[in-house]
Amino acid sequence: MTAPISYAEAFLTGVLSGFGMDVDYVRAEKDTLYHLDDSGAEAPVLDLVGGWGSTLLGHNNREIVAHAKALLDADAPIHAQFSLHPVADRVGARLNEILRREFPGAEPYSIIFANSGAEAVEAAAKHGEMARALRARELLDRIAWHADVAARAVRAGTATPGPLPGGGTPASIEELLGAVAEHNAERAARRPVFFALERAFHGKLIGSTQFTYNPAFRDPFAVLGLPARFVPPNDTAALEKAFDEERTAVLDVEVVDGVVTLVERDFPVFAGFLVEPIQGEGGIHELTAEFAARLRQVCDEAACPVVVDEIQTGMGRTGAFFASKHIGLLGDYYLLGKSLGGGVGKASALLVRQSLYRAEFELVHSSTFAKDGFSTAITLKALELLEADGGAVYARAAERGAAITGALRELAAEYPDVIVDIRGRGLMIGVEFADQSRSASAIIREKNASGLLSFVLGGYLQLAHAIRTGPTASAPNMLRIEPSVYLDDAEIDQLRTGFRALCEILRNQDGGALVHP
Ligand code: F0G
Repeated sequence: MTAPISYAEAFLTGVLSGFGMDVDYVRAEKDTLYHLDDSGAEAPVLDLVGGWGSTLLGHNNREIVAHAKALLDADAPIHAQFSLHPVADRVGARLNEILRREFPGAEPYSIIFANSGAEAVEAAAKHGEMARALRARELLDRIAWHADVAARAVRAGTATPGPLPGGGTPASIEELLGAVAEHNAERAARRPVFFALERAFHGKLIGSTQFTYNPAFRDPFAVLGLPARFVPPNDTAALEKAFDEERTAVLDVEVVDGVVTLVERDFPVFAGFLVEPIQGEGGIHELTAEFAARLRQVCDEAACPVVVDEIQTGMGRTGAFFASKHIGLLGDYYLLGKSLGGGVGKASALLVRQSLYRAEFELVHSSTFAKDGFSTAITLKALELLEADGGAVYARAAERGAAITGALRELAAEYPDVIVDIRGRGLMIGVEFADQSRSASAIIREKNASGLLSFVLGGYLQLAHAIRTGPTASAPNMLRIEPSVYLDDAEIDQLRTGFRALCEILRNQDGGALVHP
């Protein structure tokens, strides 16, 4: 008998099967996914991947599911584009309340809805570029006005042309202004500059994949998008150097003491600096408060919007709604996604500080599905649950995170040869395993060399301990742990038992036990 043809990413399914991850889950609840065993009975798997960070409130959160059912039963309008959207507005209001609580004194932020994380990233990039281009236009218009004033003064005999941009005396005011216009046109034609951090992950669409550091995701599509300039995280000297190298100026014209004089003006070339407060896909690395403060200063000086990508870190996962609160970084733009939809809806959002917001954007950016009645209502419900009881969810994220991290740190102390680091904050945790390039086991050595060690470690936990962890494509020796706030003590014990067994296998360099549990 031949195997049935598979249509939906058959190749990827084949790859997953090599690591025991080709499981057909039939039901999900809280932190458990269920598949059917050989007898047809439900078999639980402890899910520490948490929908890649989208199920902070658990799989199929009872209250969110009940709300979804009620909406559907009531025939609530889902697709009524170009009409009033009071629920979407309430989501915006709620997010503003949260922002003002976590960043006292913050100004209001306008909200643009989208459907996925990468789409919100692209909306931010488009808004950043639109705002930059409008500012550039305003500056060039002002300069054209000043040039006109200067030309009139020369013609009226009240001023004389000063030196050319490169030095030398112009034959006429027309020659001087022509040289200025040429200089400015060359600067204005330059491509906008977006900055992102090394190890960043901001999505995989045409624009956003250029802000994602891993060359495997970025290079094949480089020709389609605008390249970002990558800056090493937590390196203030490199940050300052990057800005100095990209800064560009245009020439303005002023009449000073009867001489038409050239004055340099900073040209708005910066469209945005994207940062994750804690890098997720890149291996759970937190920005330092010191770097964040310098970033804020440098971006203010250069009029470069700080785009804080909280798609993974946000919604309370780290113990505050915004992880940027922990490092005191107030963004000009915020990006939210993943758990924003409460694990049921698909929703993402771009928040833009109102003094930087360009309302014209609303006429040129849209999506059929964005801001739909269903996902905005689900998002509002998710925010209600997140905000309930004076921030109990956030406190719980911090407390559960500390319990997991504590258990893992004990293991790391017992197995320093196996675990090199436990990183993260709240329920965003990374376990970094030691490099195995010198392993006594050929199997382990080979998996390490092919960059697949985390998949093999994850496969072992899945098959031997019914625990699902998340590999990180860009940090090959790491397992990610991002459960819901409802993870209980028994589940943390299960985690501890599984990881202890894994540590024991790695200490004994038992490649056989790892791949054939
Ligand atoms: N930004 C961040 C910080 C992310 O972690 C992700 C996705 C995205 C943007 C893109 O969101 O998938 O909804 O388009 N992160 C994943 C990960 C997939 O592996 O952590 P998306």
